[in-house]
Amino acid sequence: MYTPEMLESIKKVEATRPGRLGTEPGRMDAAQKDALLKAYHPDYRAEGFAQILAGPNQGEKAPRELVRLLHSDSRLLNEKIDLNKTEYDVDVLVIGGGGAGASAAIEAHRAGARVMVVTKLRLGDANTMMAEGGIQAADKENDSPVQHYLDAFGGGHFAARPELLRRLVMEAPDAIQWLSDLGVMFDKDKEGNMITTHGGGTSRKRMHACKDYSGAEIMRTLRDEVLNLGIPVAEFTAAVELLKDEKGQIAGAVLQNIETEDYLVARAKTVVIATGGAGRLHYQNFPTSNHYGATADGLIMGYRAGAPLLYQDTIQYHPTGAAYPAQIFGALVTEKVRSVGAMLVNREGEAFMHPLETRDVAAAAIIRECGDRGKGVTTPTGTGVWLDTPMIELLGGEGTIEKRIPAMLRMFLNYGIDMRKQPILVYPTLHYQNGGLEIGGDGFTKVYRNLLVAGEAVGGIHGRNRLMGNSLLDIIVFGRNAGKAAAARAKEIETGTLSLEHIYEYHETLVRAGLHTGEVSPLLLPKYARHER
Ligand code: FUM
Repeated sequence: MYTPEMLESIKKVEATRPGRLGTEPGRMDAAQKDALLKAYHPDYRAEGFAQILAGPNQGEKAPRELVRLLHSDSRLLNEKIDLNKTEYDVDVLVIGGGGAGASAAIEAHRAGARVMVVTKLRLGDANTMMAEGGIQAADKENDSPVQHYLDAFGGGHFAARPELLRRLVMEAPDAIQWLSDLGVMFDKDKEGNMITTHGGGTSRKRMHACKDYSGAEIMRTLRDEVLNLGIPVAEFTAAVELLKDEKGQIAGAVLQNIETEDYLVARAKTVVIATGGAGRLHYQNFPTSNHYGATADGLIMGYRAGAPLLYQDTIQYHPTGAAYPAQIFGALVTEKVRSVGAMLVNREGEAFMHPLETRDVAAAAIIRECGDRGKGVTTPTGTGVWLDTPMIELLGGEGTIEKRIPAMLRMFLNYGIDMRKQPILVYPTLHYQNGGLEIGGDGFTKVYRNLLVAGEAVGGIHGRNRLMGNSLLDIIVFGRNAGKAAAARAKEIETGTLSLEHIYEYHETLVRAGLHTGEVSPLLLPKYARHER
């Protein structure tokens, strides 16, 4: 399956392997990391960014592709929607059917609210489902939420909003318990203790996993719970714009049936945006590990309604996307592969970095290795470095790969590559948006007392870089909190006359700024989606 040139390079990897077993390159110091990031991380490539020229973050920068959507017209600008004809009338409207949305819906329902979920694809079609490596929580004796906080705060370049990160780490042990009680089957040893591993930048082993299907197992459980509770879910129904009322509060959303293209009005006392990430915008032409619907819709709708963004200029490129074969280009190769012993090595078989540096540092080191240093392995789609997976079996014993990372084994076996015997090729892939809509510690946006955000659509929980396993955690912690808070707030809210005035006002701002992209947003599906019926 590998090309002759790749096979030549594998011989060098095999030759250096015995010398690398049991020794690791040292970690970089802060100055080295800083210099590496500035020189090689895509967040520092000026040409990848543009200035936002309208709305609350006017004058700040964001990825070009996101700015283009922020400067585009509402899908409803020239539509006649009868806002008096409401299809749905609920206490809590959850927009998004991933882990954060499902968690919010479950808790809102338990709090007695009339809640519904709308999702443009199917319940569970989300980045949650695709998460592999695990979920962090400091619930072992040698660990504490304080330690967890310090790891995440440092890994995020000291930029995380303290009130958000505090909630994340303090509520982590309870999140694991909640999932466990719902039926998530975490990996356990013979005595029934949770098996935990390191991730990049963790000082303690606190990664709880379900092999390397962690997200799928969590989403399976949450989806079952939503359905068992009888929570209404409108699938293939996209939210395309938030609604307001004459009091200036959020009052629901206009939805679009993806199949019939009909518009529907949903009135709600509180709204939770849980629309996930933006990988399918392919910033700087990177491939992505994200699911098909990751097009930043919640950011666009929230922003158009006046909710500010935070850290919209910082993106996570997962260091190890599959670089070969082309059929899985950009797919996630979980960090857990390095947690259980694989090392990153270049074309010459040299280990060029500690395998568990934080993600931004690891991605920048790989980009440098393949770029300026010229030590990448050429592939049909570009270049990559080796992830020396046979080391896992040498360190952990035969059968470790099948036991701990079976999804990875299967993914590569599908293309004739047995990672137990041969290394695999990886290169950074667009994985996560560190930025998103700004919220306070209570989960509400700063400008609306009845609009909440949860999950990847939130900015500020992780600062400017997220550690592995803190995203599966944040969807649970902030999803649950959003559901409870939304249900409580709904008791205080009466909605008035529905209005879309804000979209016309925002459009006026675009016109005054001379902006005309000729496009509409939110995007809903990637540009390469096939639209014929
Ligand atoms: O590498 C991974 O398994 C990804 C985990 C994450 O983004 O938290």
